[in-house]
Amino acid sequence: MGQFHFDPDRYLELMHADVPGYDELQEQAGRAAAGLPVVEDVLDLGTGTGETAERILGLYPRARLTGVDVSPYMLAAGRAKLGAEPALIVARLEDPLPPGPYDLVFSALAVHHLDGEGKRDLFGRVAGVLRPAGRFVLADVVVPEDPAEAVVPLTPDFDRPDSAADQVAWLGEAGFDARMTWSLRDLAVFAAELR
Ligand SMILES: C[S@@+](CC[C@H](N)C(=O)[O-])C[C@H]1O[C@@H](n2cnc3c(N)ncnc32)[C@H](O)[C@@H]1O
Repeated sequence: MGQFHFDPDRYLELMHADVPGYDELQEQAGRAAAGLPVVEDVLDLGTGTGETAERILGLYPRARLTGVDVSPYMLAAGRAKLGAEPALIVARLEDPLPPGPYDLVFSALAVHHLDGEGKRDLFGRVAGVLRPAGRFVLADVVVPEDPAEAVVPLTPDFDRPDSAADQVAWLGEAGFDARMTWSLRDLAVFAAELR
């Protein structure tokens, strides 16, 4: 997924062309985020144009959304989609997270831009901003067990997916009970709750 994808005007068209299963991934992220009894505050990591956030707000319409993304251009499109209320912050996932606390932290197709150490570090920081009964939902491109299933085009040094097994292990190290709730070739969704 090259940086050229981060043109907000062509974002969806390009994702549909390059990520077979993009819509299903978003749908499954929503399913993994559903069913929490109380959701007042949610944090979206890599909000982009707001595709994932819009779906999550559909589940929890009264929730206060905070979104983080490194691209002011993508966030401007997100603002147009999500309206004036959400706090949309231009920042890197490597930066300190907004303190929250949050009932739900979610992320789609953004965390794979971090290397393995960066993901481990992020998972620990996510654990630190979640309320005790909260959930972290991660939907992303992964390194599949069968190399033939690696169908999403990747840009070296920009896309850095890891295996599902490694990410479940790193979530466990960060204090989560984590499971993969869905996968399709090199896409996967994880749901994680604090132990
Ligand atoms: C593929 S888009 C995903 C947007 C949305 N979640 C979705 O699924 O449609 C990835 C987003 O992550 C952002 N991003 C990439 N690397 C990032 C980083 N290190 N810190 C913060 N945002 C980052 C990009 O600017 C882009 O908006």
